[in-house]
Amino acid sequence: MGTACYLKGGEDLILELERQLGVGLNTVTPDGEFSVEAVRCIGCCGLAPVMTVNGEVFGNVKIAQLKKILDQVRGK
Ligand code: FES
Repeated sequence: MGTACYLKGGEDLILELERQLGVGLNTVTPDGEFSVEAVRCIGCCGLAPVMTVNGEVFGNVKIAQLKKILDQVRGK
């Protein structure tokens, strides 16, 4: 993970994503819908912490937003 995302709580986001999805890093959920991967930097450091889902960038992500983002991706 890049420095900006690390300093702004990226590690906590990964841990919460792992908890909500029931997987570890580089592991696919049993339904094949999600995997969680950590990357070095995606070049949006000013928006840190950043995550991407299916190519869509989410910036300034807060833990409280993760469920909503996952539901959005699931089409709920
Ligand atoms: S460190 Fe996260 S986008 Fe650069």
